[in-house]
Amino acid sequence: MKKHTRCVHSGTYPDRETRGVNTPVFTSSAFEYVDMPHNIYPRYFNTPNQTAAAGKLCALENAEDGLIFSSGMAAISTVLLAFLNSGDHAVLQGDIYGGTRHFVTADFERFGIDYTFVSNEAEDIERAVKENTRIIFIESPSNPLLRITDIRAVARIAKSRNIVTAIDNTFATPVNQNPLDLGIDIVLHSGTKYLSGHSDICCGAVVSSKSLIEKIRNSAVNLGGSLDANACYLLERSMKTLCIRVEKQCSNARRIAEALADNPYISKVYYPGLKNHPGHDTAKRQMRGFGAIVSFELNQKAGPPEFVRKLHLIKPALSLGGVESTICAPAVTSHQKLTGEERAALGITDGLFRLSVGIEDSEDLLSDIEQALSAA
Ligand SMILES: Cc1ncc(COP(=O)(O)O)c(C=O)c1O
Repeated sequence: MKKHTRCVHSGTYPDRETRGVNTPVFTSSAFEYVDMPHNIYPRYFNTPNQTAAAGKLCALENAEDGLIFSSGMAAISTVLLAFLNSGDHAVLQGDIYGGTRHFVTADFERFGIDYTFVSNEAEDIERAVKENTRIIFIESPSNPLLRITDIRAVARIAKSRNIVTAIDNTFATPVNQNPLDLGIDIVLHSGTKYLSGHSDICCGAVVSSKSLIEKIRNSAVNLGGSLDANACYLLERSMKTLCIRVEKQCSNARRIAEALADNPYISKVYYPGLKNHPGHDTAKRQMRGFGAIVSFELNQKAGPPEFVRKLHLIKPALSLGGVESTICAPAVTSHQKLTGEERAALGITDGLFRLSVGIEDSEDLLSDIEQALSAA
C-alpha cells in the first residue's frame, strides 16, 4: 500500500463483532489471563489501542515493531536508559531538542554514563566515538535551527563498530523521512507534534526491529511511561490524516520561507528547502519534503517581544506540529533550561523564532507575519 492508504488503514483493530470501521476504545486496565496466549496490561504496552496506534506508525516508518509512550520524553529517556549502563559512553548531536539535552546533562553523570555532544557533521560524530560508545543519538532536521545530519553516513559509522543508532524524527515525520530505510536502528517521535497534529494530546513513540523493541520494552515496562486507551485512540485517528496534513503544512512552509527570505525585518531564515541552507543537498538526498518548521531571526529593526504580541492569527505557544500555526522563541521556551553560553554556542539567539506552519492558507499566515513585523 502507498502512504496515504497506509495512514488510513494500517493498524486498525478489526472489530469483528460490530464491523465498525474504527478501532473501538478498550478502556479496561484489567484483562483476564486464564486461557489467554499472553498477559495484557496497559504498562506492558500491549493493549489493543496501544498496538493499533503502534501498528499504524510501524507501517508508515517501515518498522517491524513499535511502542507508544505517554510523551516524547518518556520514549527518548526509555530508549537511552535501555542501551546505556554505568561506564558506557553516548555520542549525541549537540543541537537536539532542549529537553533531551537537559535529560543528558542533568541525569547521565549520576548514572555513571559518559557522553559527548557533537556537531551534526558525520566526521565530528565519528571522531567522538570511543571504545565504550554504545549509542549515537541524532535529530534531523534539528530543533530549532533545522540543521541536517547525513543519516546514511552516521548509520555507516555506527554499523562498522556495532553501535546502536537512534534518531528523533519528530520534525521530519514519516511523511518526509524514513530513517530505518537509511540504516538507522531506532526511530523516535514526540507524538505530541505532527503524529497527533491537533495540539490536544501528549504522547511519544519508538519504532525499530522486533529484537530492539523487545529490549526497549523490557526497560519500558519498568519505567512505566505508557499511554492510556483514549489518547491512543486519538493518536491513531489523527494519523489517518498525517499525510494530507503534513503535505499541506510543507507546501505552506516553503512558500513562507521564500517570502520571509526577502523581508527587510528578517536577517536570517532557516529552512532546509531553501537552496542557500547548508544542509539543502543532504536534505534532498534523504527527505521527500523539507518539513513545516521555518525558523528566522529578526534584525535590529524589530523587537522580539513586540513582534509576537502583534500577531493575530499565529499563536505564540509551546509545542508545534498542529493544524494551527504557532510560533515560539526557543530561548525562552524549548531551550530555556540551557545556559546562555550553551544557547550562544548552538546559535540560539534571543531574536530567533521557530514558526510551526499549520494548514491554514499561506497568504493569511504571511499577511499576519508581515503586519506584526511592521507594527513591531
Ligand atoms: C524534536 C522534539 N523531540 C522531543 C520532544 C519531547 O516531546 P514531548 O514534549 O512529547 O515529551 C519535543 C518537544 O517539543 C521535540 O520538539
